[in-house]
Amino acid sequence: MTNFPWNRRHIISLADFTPSEYESVLQTAISFQDVLSRRNKKVPTLQGQVVANLFFEPSTRTRSSFELAAKRLSADTLNFSPGSSSLSKGETILDTAKTYLAMGTDLMVIRHKGSGVPATIAQEMDRLESGVGVVSAGDGQQEHPSQAHLDLLTICNALTPKQPTTADLKGKKIAIVGDILHSRVARSNLWSLTACGAEVHLAAPPTLLPKAFAEAFSQPLQTKEGTQNETVARQVFVHWALEPALENADFVMTLRLQKERMSAHLLPILRAYHHLSGITRYRIQNCAPHVNIMHPGPTNRGVEITSELMDDPQLSLIAKQVSSGVAVRMALLYLMGGSKRQ
Ligand code: CP
Repeated sequence: MTNFPWNRRHIISLADFTPSEYESVLQTAISFQDVLSRRNKKVPTLQGQVVANLFFEPSTRTRSSFELAAKRLSADTLNFSPGSSSLSKGETILDTAKTYLAMGTDLMVIRHKGSGVPATIAQEMDRLESGVGVVSAGDGQQEHPSQAHLDLLTICNALTPKQPTTADLKGKKIAIVGDILHSRVARSNLWSLTACGAEVHLAAPPTLLPKAFAEAFSQPLQTKEGTQNETVARQVFVHWALEPALENADFVMTLRLQKERMSAHLLPILRAYHHLSGITRYRIQNCAPHVNIMHPGPTNRGVEITSELMDDPQLSLIAKQVSSGVAVRMALLYLMGGSKRQ
């Protein structure tokens, strides 16, 4: 395993991730894809370390793949479910995290419906000088960094299967379509895709895509690559109609309609939403001929995307996204556990 430079204890947001950090995660994940293709899929890298999965909100993919990633790295894993925990007796989230710290946890994977919870736990771990690394597994409407990293790996694998690199993204057109307002996946992907040189086109009805949304993501990223300062221009475009976003798109990322996060009636009935904004075979006909369709999951079949497209083995990368998740989460845990590995 090549050692890539890595200086982060926590992974909470991708806002200030540099192109070389994306490359480090990508190349480390590619090494782990190789490990995962072998008969013996385990490496001893995190032997003796404890990874605690603290999921205060439901999850299938993220939770299981972080657990499997930790096990493949030979770490011991602890899984927490709010329903059967002492939260129901009034214990606070911070006291829950400190309880896992007291049991010898080295890395914490946190998902919570409240934006900022992983950051608050990370601050507390630093205040206690615990040395514990915290990785966000999705917080509220804020960020889902590991999803963006696995999407990057999936895209790079599709573009250049033999030697994927983040440089492959330069100039590619990615359409992100659907419930952007409530999507932490869209926010993290905006940081990662634009930092790697892709053009991101957002498309949704106006109630799900405020005009000011893209402004925050259009600020140039100042990076310090080696000794030179380099500015990464971020290219984000907003559309309230699907056609201009989909035209010549190399990849279309559809997003789940997050009914549980909607505080008001932002949409007409679901059938009308599918009619206006759902991704169908007809709608993708003006995309690039080699277009691929992605979705972070879970999906509302027949709402944001047709079942037929979801299951199309030529077009859909959805299953590959899930597979990429294990290698990417191994890479993140490996890189974060670096200080303890030495
Ligand atoms: N993509 C994603 O976060 O899925 P889960 O909610 O199943 O983890």
